[in-house]
Amino acid sequence: MLHEQGGKYNKKAQSTTGDGKSHHSMAYGARYSKQPIAKYELNEKGMDSTAVYRAIHDELELDGRPVANLATFLSTWMEPECEKLIMDSMPKNFADMDEYPATQVIHERCISILADMWKTPSTEGKKAVGAAVAGSSEGVMLAGLAMKWQWRLKRKAQNKDASRPNIIFGHNAQVVMEKFARYFDVGPRRVPVSKESNYCLDVEKAVSMVDENTIGIFAILGSTYTGHYEPVEGLCKLLDQLEERTGLDIHVHIDAASGGFVAPFATPDLPWSFELPRVVSINTSGHKFGLVYPGIGWVLWRNKDVLPSDLIFELDYLGGTEQTFTLNFSRPSCFVMAQYYNFLRLGRSGYTNVMTTCLSNARFLAKELESTGFFDIISSIHRPADNPSGYVTGLPLVAFKLTDSLKKRHKHLNEYRFSAMMRYRGWITPAYALAPDCEDIKIIRVVIHESTTLDLVTRLIDDAMHAVKSLIECNLEASCSEAMIKETELCCDRFEEFEKKQQHGYTRPC
Ligand SMILES: Cc1ncc(COP(=O)(O)O)c(C=O)c1O
Repeated sequence: MLHEQGGKYNKKAQSTTGDGKSHHSMAYGARYSKQPIAKYELNEKGMDSTAVYRAIHDELELDGRPVANLATFLSTWMEPECEKLIMDSMPKNFADMDEYPATQVIHERCISILADMWKTPSTEGKKAVGAAVAGSSEGVMLAGLAMKWQWRLKRKAQNKDASRPNIIFGHNAQVVMEKFARYFDVGPRRVPVSKESNYCLDVEKAVSMVDENTIGIFAILGSTYTGHYEPVEGLCKLLDQLEERTGLDIHVHIDAASGGFVAPFATPDLPWSFELPRVVSINTSGHKFGLVYPGIGWVLWRNKDVLPSDLIFELDYLGGTEQTFTLNFSRPSCFVMAQYYNFLRLGRSGYTNVMTTCLSNARFLAKELESTGFFDIISSIHRPADNPSGYVTGLPLVAFKLTDSLKKRHKHLNEYRFSAMMRYRGWITPAYALAPDCEDIKIIRVVIHESTTLDLVTRLIDDAMHAVKSLIECNLEASCSEAMIKETELCCDRFEEFEKKQQHGYTRPC
């Protein structure tokens, strides 16, 4: 087709190999830049590989840039050596345990390292069990199922009705908890959240909702909305008291999607994991602060006693006998290898360095934004606290909103417009409503990653200030009241102050 389009002239210009194929491999495969590529039906003939690559690659360039995506919790960068390892193990099916025994050994090592990170007591003489999963969502589903099975076994042994299980979680829960409840027929008991509960689980209210049909409580280490840790230790103490009063022995699962890799390093003394006997299972996303590309999560149970054997399947058609307790089957083993790479590469000190740096940059951002007077900070990690880190514990993120006074004076100003203005400057910082019960509050969340360096944070602050300034100015052109002029003068003073500060450099991060 290329020859036909170019006519005689091109036919001449093209040299061909003996088999009649063109020597020329044109990156953009000229014929395809004139014709649409297949979108809705399979094309009859294939395309040149370089042209296919370019077509898809260029279309993907329309996506946001991962490094500027401060909305995501997911890792957007890995070392080139690890990327090589990922490519090496990409063709291996993780489910083929018999064919790839070395892969399985590495998987076991990762489980063991996580069990150690999450303080599994050795005194119990029992080993933690777990699995690599697709992400935290699969981990939460499996942990919820184990709780449901355990509860049902107990109820049946007592000859009691086991048809109306319920699960308790905060209204701030990530959608996976709702999914678990709906997909697996467990009644959700959502605990209302409030400013006083830091927009996350109110443990007293949670415990007051428990009854004999409660299969367990989901607590979150690192609320998706604001990064606050739910008070796991306090929850366990209240459940101990409940057991003393009523005999109900309620287990806790920790959704540590993000916190599972932050807390053990940034605040190692904080009790939230298997050192608390009521915590029966924990999930985390390796692809969040585990610092691996998307496609890996982990779920662990403190020992086999809390993982009913009915959930474990034995298979023997791939060679030897394999045990499996995941929702899906075939998947690449490469991200398990990437996780192990990070464990070896970073060690405890490396992970500690990354997490404390992320937290320090997040605190810096929160304090600087707060000091402008335009933003209220909803997250709490920059506030002092009486603990070894000196600050309130939580994820390295900043959740903030425009101040009410600013929005009152400039009615057209809101978080969504601010976010759109930031997008013009290349930042992905979407605005969204807080958890149900507090949904009138709109916030912007910035997750600080390993790749969100202090330099990038200072650029972000500059751009946030300019976004507010542009939004104010843009409305002044439309209408100009005296109050607005006053406010603009006030803002100009702040901008001047801000610019002076820039010249002298920022205060040091904490
Ligand atoms: C608290 C919490 N749980 C679960 C999930 C789902 O995690 P994944 O995307 O790894 O399935 C998220 C994702 O942001 C989360 O923040």
